[in-house]
Amino acid sequence: MASEALLLADIDAFFADSHVLHRVSFRCGEGRLLGLLGRNGAGKTTSMNVTVGVLPPRRGRVEIYGAAVAGRSPEAIAAQGVALVPQGRRIFRSLSVRENLAVAARKPRGGLPLLWTLDTVFATFPRLQERRDQYAGTLSGGEQQMLAIGRALMSNPRVLLMDEPSEGLAPQIVAEVMATIRRLKEQGLSIVLVEQNAKLVFDVADDIVILNSGRVVIDATAAELKSAGTDLHQHLGIY
Ligand SMILES: Nc1ncnc2c1ncn2[C@@H]1O[C@H](COP(=O)(O)OP(=O)(O)O)[C@@H](O)[C@H]1O
Ligand SMILES: [Mg+2]
Repeated sequence: MASEALLLADIDAFFADSHVLHRVSFRCGEGRLLGLLGRNGAGKTTSMNVTVGVLPPRRGRVEIYGAAVAGRSPEAIAAQGVALVPQGRRIFRSLSVRENLAVAARKPRGGLPLLWTLDTVFATFPRLQERRDQYAGTLSGGEQQMLAIGRALMSNPRVLLMDEPSEGLAPQIVAEVMATIRRLKEQGLSIVLVEQNAKLVFDVADDIVILNSGRVVIDATAAELKSAGTDLHQHLGIY
């Protein structure tokens, strides 16, 4: 189904002998924002690593717009139009801001118009433009997060995965990051937002999946969960 931007179906994933994901299935519809929640160690990052091909699953399917990608290389999967903003940002500290962005540049698939370039990323993040020649390692945490997002956008993805982009940031900076995510969604990007903070996610998400101990325990629309008044504390801990 072309309306499915991302699909994981019956994924089992292991670290050596440790069984981390158990039959995990979820989907992100085209143009929708999926909030992927769960406490520390629930398997959120592992699910992202499976999606981008860093950790091949032992069983199950991963599809990007209907194309089966499980078991393919990270490069081949990126070429399908998936980009990950990794947990902890992982920018190149000893490269300049501009160099961090330039190395990630990629044309969109299928001859689509080039949406994200250095110019459009700088227009979206003016502070990165001001600091374009600075070493990325000298940026503040919030600026590094913006750079990590900008770098993912430079690959002109059709599915954007963001792993805890608010982690370790002051509340005002978190609000800026969330405003950016909202704008990207309004532009039609399909987004998976991984978070521990349920409140942040409920403010922007169309759909919610909650992982607990490597299993999907909730899969619903945000509206359904809100109207049902579902108590998420048992799955998420107290926030
Ligand atoms: N590199 C690794 N080697 C072994 N176990 C790991 C590794 N990374 C994560 N794990 C384990 O996998 C489980 C899921 O981790 P992770 O996906 O990082 O959770 P989350 O992102 O939800 O906090 C945890 O039990 C964690 O200890
Ligand atoms: Mg994680």
